[in-house]
Amino acid sequence: MSTTALAQQEFCITLSDLASFMEIPSSVCKTRIEKRLKKKLKSPWLLPEEVRTVLLAEGYKYPKKVISIQMLKGGVAKTTSVLNMGLRAAMYGAKVLFVDLDQQANLSFALGVEDESLPVWVDIVEKRKSIDECVHFIEPHVDLIPSSLNNSVLDRVLANSNRNWAQAVKGPLEKIKHRYDLILIDTAPALSATNTAVTVASDEIILPVNPDKFAFLGLEKNLAELEDIKRDFALDFERKILFTKFDGRENTSHELLQRCIDSFEDSLMKSYIRTSTEVKNTVRSGKSLFAGKSPVKADYDLVTREMLGFA
Ligand SMILES: Nc1ncnc2c1ncn2[C@@H]1O[C@H](COP(=O)(O)OP(=O)(O)OP(=O)(O)O)[C@@H](O)[C@H]1O
Ligand SMILES: [Mg+2]
Repeated sequence: MSTTALAQQEFCITLSDLASFMEIPSSVCKTRIEKRLKKKLKSPWLLPEEVRTVLLAEGYKYPKKVISIQMLKGGVAKTTSVLNMGLRAAMYGAKVLFVDLDQQANLSFALGVEDESLPVWVDIVEKRKSIDECVHFIEPHVDLIPSSLNNSVLDRVLANSNRNWAQAVKGPLEKIKHRYDLILIDTAPALSATNTAVTVASDEIILPVNPDKFAFLGLEKNLAELEDIKRDFALDFERKILFTKFDGRENTSHELLQRCIDSFEDSLMKSYIRTSTEVKNTVRSGKSLFAGKSPVKADYDLVTREMLGFA
């Protein structure tokens, strides 16, 4: 990603962030980091590789998971969540592969990859392109398989395929999975063949839900569809619900959050994402939320730790 490479502040965790994560004073943290890295720290920013070395030495373990973000309802913060959770996970030292499987390609645009001529998933399935040709380096610890409008025929290609179409995401990913801790798949708002293939490839599915009157209906429909796919393909994925765009001033937010707690307590992620005007357009502007001052930064930090099993 040469044109819109993220600035250091957008992509590196600070010493004081890591100290508060490890629940120790910054001065103690600095000494520990210097001991682990066997060098003096010259900057308050820590590179993903440095954070990884420190956290592994401190006993943290990175998960190995394919996680997809799905919700048939549009605009619930799927892409915003994939982007910020993935970038934050990389800041914590995880090796992350983003896979954009939405033909709107918002995740790819946010990461600075906007080129209709690049090979995308449909080319892997239809033209037998190798998955390696589709992987783009974004930042250290962050790669992307981009999407584009060309993926809009993927559903049709899968429907007409006489190969085992349900393996169309899992199969190619198996070849490169070992290189990453987290593979995060962004999806289009649909119940589609592509999303079924994504489900087959997923160890975990995160379903974002935002407070509006159709949200609960959409969530129930999506969960029922996932249960069917789970049964039909004998799958064993975990599903998690992420409450997004929570607005403390609105009754609907409180009511829907309570409904989610009552109905899905075990699957509901412990942290939720508040609404904030600063989040608007982070995806479109290609800026990481972590460079700004939005309170939602802290929300995505907590959700990311939960995803990593660091909570
Ligand atoms: N916490 C938040 N507070 C305020 N606005 C938000 C928040 N999260 C996301 N948004 C805004 O909501 C809109 C939709 O978000 P996003 O594109 O991530 O949703 P999506 O589920 O990926 O949509 P689609 O289904 O079209 O792919 C965007 O304008 C985004 O900036
Ligand atoms: Mg999206």
